[in-house]
Amino acid sequence: MTTGHYPVMLEEALEALTPKGDETIVDATFGGGGHSRRILEELGPGGRLIAIDRDPEAAERAAKLREDPRFSFKVGAYDEVLKRLVEEGVRADGVLFDLGLSSFQIDEAERGFSYVQEGPLDMRMDPSSGRSAADFLNEAEPAEISDVLVRYGDVPRGEARRVAGEISKRRPLLTTVELSGAVRSAVGWKERGGNPAKRVFQAVRVFVNDEIGGLERALDAAEELLVPGGRLVAITFHSGEDRTVKRFIKDREGRCVCPPELPVCVCGAAPILRRGVVRKPSQQEVGENSRSASARLRSAVRTNEPLGGR
Ligand SMILES: C[S@@+](CC[C@H](N)C(=O)[O-])C[C@H]1O[C@@H](n2cnc3c(N)ncnc32)[C@H](O)[C@@H]1O
Repeated sequence: MTTGHYPVMLEEALEALTPKGDETIVDATFGGGGHSRRILEELGPGGRLIAIDRDPEAAERAAKLREDPRFSFKVGAYDEVLKRLVEEGVRADGVLFDLGLSSFQIDEAERGFSYVQEGPLDMRMDPSSGRSAADFLNEAEPAEISDVLVRYGDVPRGEARRVAGEISKRRPLLTTVELSGAVRSAVGWKERGGNPAKRVFQAVRVFVNDEIGGLERALDAAEELLVPGGRLVAITFHSGEDRTVKRFIKDREGRCVCPPELPVCVCGAAPILRRGVVRKPSQQEVGENSRSASARLRSAVRTNEPLGGR
């Protein structure tokens, strides 16, 4: 079943990105194109929007927008595409990351992302490359699986060990329902206060797609793409993503202690990025779309400081 994608924190993202006139904006996570369409509304006739997604189905959804001469689409992992853009000498006034999965991906059982619908245990955003979730879970040592659950799903260590043990007992696991079943028999629902499979699926997906490594490399490339005054905007959905973006911005801020409300740094720290205010979705948005509940929007503005030897 495909229900379409509700673009999360759309107005807040647009406020932080402020696309206008003949600017060049990069939407690194096209998905269903919700943010892209709004960005195009704000850009003038000379503006340019470069959209990226590693999922070939997102490329199909972008087909209609290609009629707009200001729009171009690149299929691939965002870290690799952003790096190529830097090498080609492209500069951007804004880069947007709306991380994680689209509802198209979650709702399509055959992709294997859903812990409630039955499908093959795949979870690759690009199904043509890399190891599937089944390859990983059926081959890895239980200790490695347990580490992945702790690191990328914030699963408590004891619970992660029990789940990894149950997975290795039931191998080979071939479907999402088999994985959910293994989790349920290792961890009671009452114990977790909700479906315990949620964090396990998240952890395996983040690992299989190298999401944190990809995000770190992509943020480095985005920084090189941005012109002075350029805006970096990231919407995160779990602690691993959020920590990565937060750390990156903090590192580039250096010792700057100016409050984010000040337009320029006055403390003499010469930061590369100036942090914006962290935002959460409104109560109304969470009410309309429960998938937005864990979202955090972080933003930063590129200063005039050179990147140096980086
Ligand atoms: C939350 S959705 C974006 C939704 C979009 N903003 C909208 O409003 O329709 C995230 C998208 O990013 C893509 N994605 C995730 N990681 C990626 C990566 N490393 N490289 C390229 N695309 C990625 C996913 O395939 C997914 O389509």
